[in-house]
Amino acid sequence: MRTVIAVTNVKGGVGKTTSAVYLAGAAIRSGRGPTLVVDADPQASSAEWLEESPVAGVRLVEAPTARLVARAMEAGRERLAIVDSPPGDEKTVRAVLERADAVVIPTRVGGPEPSRVRATIEMVAPAVPRGIVICAARTGTRDLEDTIASWEDEGEAIWGVVPERVAIASGAGAPLSIVGLVHYENVLIRALDRPRRRPAGR
Ligand SMILES: Nc1ncnc2c1ncn2[C@@H]1O[C@H](COP(=O)(O)OP(=O)(O)OP(=O)(O)O)[C@@H](O)[C@H]1O
Ligand SMILES: [Mg+2]
Repeated sequence: MRTVIAVTNVKGGVGKTTSAVYLAGAAIRSGRGPTLVVDADPQASSAEWLEESPVAGVRLVEAPTARLVARAMEAGRERLAIVDSPPGDEKTVRAVLERADAVVIPTRVGGPEPSRVRATIEMVAPAVPRGIVICAARTGTRDLEDTIASWEDEGEAIWGVVPERVAIASGAGAPLSIVGLVHYENVLIRALDRPRRRPAGR
């Protein structure tokens, strides 16, 4: 049986692709075996990243429509699939969330971020575990502390706070950074802690 982790936020530029690629790298590093990355974003950022800098044990499938992504999430033998979602394109995002066993919601500190996270959460079925990952965080700042506190006040789980690092931002062309892998390994542990149980036969 496969576990599907969706990496989703309706807002663009928050860290979805970075989180998806690092989660796959973290899965390999922690010995979870062959891992599928489904790139549901027509921008194909995770596809480009993994084509330029392949990670042994990670298979990539491009599936930039609702129809393709629904099929890609089921196909293949990998026990773990990570789905990089597009910003916007509600139909595709809904198709991803429908099959997800857990949802990682990357976000940033400040600005219009909370309303976009709430809009994303509204699309996630209540039975599906979800957690916020604060990306490119400036550790030790008041803004970060306030952001963490306000999500906790709303009862949302924070699955990770990933610091802002040049090594993480460097993307394809550089190996995945150890600091990033260690942070995302912890996110992965949270996401896999209690994935939704699917009815038999699915
Ligand atoms: N921990 C980090 N430290 C520094 N930079 C980061 C970190 N995480 C993400 N970034 C940078 O933030 C930018 C946006 O990240 P990313 O492309 O992953 O977002 P996205 O949500 O996938 O964007 P889009 O909606 O366009 O697909 C990139 O330049 C990326 O390198
Ligand atoms: Mg992206």
